[in-house]
Amino acid sequence: MLVFVMVVATTLRLCPLARAQPLCRMQTVRTGKIFHDGQKIQGDLLYFSSATTRLIKHPCKKNIALYLGRQAFLTRDNFESSLLPLSIPEALQVSTPEVTSAHFAGSVLLLVVNQEVYIYDYEANSWNASKGIEHPVSHISGDNCCYSGNSFCADVSNSVFAYLRGDQISQTNIYFSNTQGYVFQKYAHERQAELVGSLGGIFYFHSLSQVGLLLVNQQKAMFSYSDYPLNLNFGLPFDYNGTLDILIAPGQKGILIFWCEKSLLVSQNAGQLVNPVQVREGQHVLYSSISEANISVHSVAANENELAVLTQESYLYYGSLGILPSSLIKFAGQNIRSEEAVLVFTDVGMLEILSPLPDPLFPAFDFQKCPVNIQATLMDPQLQVDVCKMELLQGEFDNKMYTIDMNSKLELRALMIPRTGTSPVSLVMASNPHSLGLQALIYEDGYTLNGNTKHRLNISLRQQHHGGRADPNFTSSIKRPTMSTVTLDIANKEISCVDLKPLTALISVGCDLEKKIIIQNEISACYNGLLDLVTLQDNYSYVIEKDTYDPNFQGQKATEDLVVHYQYEKLGCPVLVFYDTPWKPVVELWREGKFQEVVETEYVLLEVNGLFTYTYSLTAAMALCSSQPQNWTTISKAAGGKGPFAWNRENYVSCHNPDNSTPLRWPQVPYQILGGPTENKVVFEKRNGIYTFFISIVDPYYSYCHLETIFSVYVSGAYPEQIIPEVLIFILIAANLMSVWLAYKIPKLLHTERGLKVKGFCINLCRRCRKPCECFRGRR
Ligand SMILES: *[C@@H]1O[C@H](CO)[C@@H](O)[C@H](O)[C@H]1NC(C)=O
Ligand SMILES: *[C@@H]1O[C@H](CO)[C@@H](O)[C@H](O)[C@H]1NC(C)=O
Ligand SMILES: *[C@@H]1O[C@H](CO)[C@@H](O)[C@H](O)[C@H]1NC(C)=O
Ligand SMILES: *[C@@H]1O[C@H](CO)[C@@H](O)[C@H](O)[C@H]1NC(C)=O
Ligand SMILES: *[C@@H]1O[C@H](CO)[C@@H](O)[C@H](O)[C@H]1NC(C)=O
Ligand SMILES: *[C@@H]1O[C@H](CO)[C@@H](O)[C@H](O)[C@H]1NC(C)=O
Ligand SMILES: *[C@@H]1O[C@H](CO)[C@@H](O)[C@H](O)[C@H]1NC(C)=O
Repeated sequence: MLVFVMVVATTLRLCPLARAQPLCRMQTVRTGKIFHDGQKIQGDLLYFSSATTRLIKHPCKKNIALYLGRQAFLTRDNFESSLLPLSIPEALQVSTPEVTSAHFAGSVLLLVVNQEVYIYDYEANSWNASKGIEHPVSHISGDNCCYSGNSFCADVSNSVFAYLRGDQISQTNIYFSNTQGYVFQKYAHERQAELVGSLGGIFYFHSLSQVGLLLVNQQKAMFSYSDYPLNLNFGLPFDYNGTLDILIAPGQKGILIFWCEKSLLVSQNAGQLVNPVQVREGQHVLYSSISEANISVHSVAANENELAVLTQESYLYYGSLGILPSSLIKFAGQNIRSEEAVLVFTDVGMLEILSPLPDPLFPAFDFQKCPVNIQATLMDPQLQVDVCKMELLQGEFDNKMYTIDMNSKLELRALMIPRTGTSPVSLVMASNPHSLGLQALIYEDGYTLNGNTKHRLNISLRQQHHGGRADPNFTSSIKRPTMSTVTLDIANKEISCVDLKPLTALISVGCDLEKKIIIQNEISACYNGLLDLVTLQDNYSYVIEKDTYDPNFQGQKATEDLVVHYQYEKLGCPVLVFYDTPWKPVVELWREGKFQEVVETEYVLLEVNGLFTYTYSLTAAMALCSSQPQNWTTISKAAGGKGPFAWNRENYVSCHNPDNSTPLRWPQVPYQILGGPTENKVVFEKRNGIYTFFISIVDPYYSYCHLETIFSVYVSGAYPEQIIPEVLIFILIAANLMSVWLAYKIPKLLHTERGLKVKGFCINLCRRCRKPCECFRGRR
């Protein structure tokens, strides 16, 4: 058993050369030395390729971070204990253990070492080389979404790019992984071969649902995007002086930070517009870029809303990453830098300058920390910072994830209290406004309480309706689920509003997994006494005759009868249908166990056992198709190996769509789509029995979900076919006479015991008859 012997020696002392008002107090973390003493460093010690240092924080797990410098350190407690430098096992045979790039993907750390990608699962303490990369790479990029349990969110953390920065774009090899970097595949960017310039990086901008490739050519750079509508143009070109490192600020807002020693730029919209960061003093902009201000960057830190820079001249600069162009202000000078120092945000408004300290006696390093409280520092009158004019900005939606499906809306509410009596302007920003058609409406209503005017904001978001004739590329892109963030922030916010952070919600514009479809079953075959509930529940099975079904769904007769086990738990009692009445199911939409509406839009049906003894009331011509409609045969042919049930919202093309160019060559084929604009119905052949249908809503604009289910119907009322016509006529006459008699008799009978017996006799008769009446039969 391991016994932790913790030697805690945290020393507090003032910064060396500190002035009267120290920016921060230096602390040294020195713990667990004796525990580490028994351990030897195994494998090759990793180091960072650049002369400067980096700190990569896990965006979702606040205490996990990687330090990269002359050594690498992986902490799981925010550097609250001494650490051995990180090494890579010798077994992986890395000749030069030089790290060029690192990224946390979910629960693993990815490192590019010696131009190859390695995976370190720090929880299991195991290393793996990733598979699928055949050419040298220098960088990896990815993002993390921190709402665990959401599948869209998990996809974000699983996606990783690997590439060689600086390589010629037209011929470079880019790799993509959706398995957290374990397996990569080659990625081809649209128009890649035509692009002139070198590769500055490639990123998956989840908030835009786009891949952005940074193209660098003659000290200018711009983004090329993968999907409509951004793929039609490039992002605006910006100065690319030196080789820029690119940081994606956490929170999926599309904030990017580009930096090198002499350059610092920020984009608020995933690279569509990139601006140099200005340097201010009070209200005045002193320099339009940091190169003009003669600043040399040593380390950059960012969180969702803040940016800080530690310079080589040992100054600390701070700014906010809001809706307005970013600018920095300079804090009072301090000698707070060592070559190994990095800057890191530990919380909103809390910065830390961190450097590792070697220990001559132990292999584990200690850490020197200097925490800076931004709000307190900004109080310094020398900085001429205006007081924050807002007292409160509050909303329950902050830091939550929501889903908007098609035709749904979302209401968010916020409260805002200004400090002065003036009415402030607030802004709502959606990070992905064009491709998903989010409409944000703010209704503001001010009321006064204790002399303060409070402002209540209702924000209404709607997945824009896009019926009618839109640009086909727009409508095809709107069919894809996307993500966006919605941010509520104050325009013209003073830099001193450190604690008044913007409110952000992550919106998944996609399938609402709570939605289900259910087939209305008001008249079931059990209530009508045609089927016996107890029999159905008791492992009931029935026979489908060989000349009525095709196991391959091609309409060819099978070679033997099929025994079908009735899944009562799934299907319940079948819906009752009379063979001679054209029929379509009543489809209901339910959400979170509550009825929403009857689905009127287009859907398709397929009998799951291959029964083909039914057709449709309309032909393609009668359905007024302008092009050849799809059918189950064409769909399953196109889907190849995906099985016969592949018809869904993604591959459905309406035959009424004017952009559908398939000519209408066979107008007499049955039209297999129900619902929507036509009155199409299912027509059954003369055959009594159970049909189990798969139903799929195919209208791409009804929901992002694949709304599918199975249900059963019992077709009744068909007379036995084997009976010759004369007998049939006799039976008909007899039945007529019988019904006249019954109409007179039944009202009296039903209330008596004999009435029940008559009903029971009918059921028994039905059960006993076999093939001739094509009734279902119980097998026990
Ligand atoms: C990682 O490598 C080990 C062997 O070192 C192997 O057993 C394991 O399957 C690998 N894991 C993955 C996910 O490839
Ligand atoms: C890049 O360098 C050019 C020329 O040296 C300079 O004019 C420009 O301001 C620089 N841009 C940035 C963003 O630093
Ligand atoms: C920038 O720094 C250099 C050298 O450190 C100095 O010569 C120059 O005057 C500085 N320029 C400005 C605008 O401060
Ligand atoms: C804002 O929403 C609340 C709650 O739904 C409602 O009572 C109020 O009338 C709304 N205000 C406006 C201006 O729409
Ligand atoms: C739609 O996209 C295709 C292929 O990307 C392109 O050829 C076509 O011009 C686009 N149509 C419109 C209307 O933008
Ligand atoms: C249900 O019936 C099938 C055959 O029809 C049989 O194999 C199975 O054991 C039965 N299950 C039960 C629980 O009776
Ligand atoms: C399906 O459609 C094709 C034409 O697209 C037609 O040739 C075929 O007969 C149709 N099949 C059925 C069963 O209607």
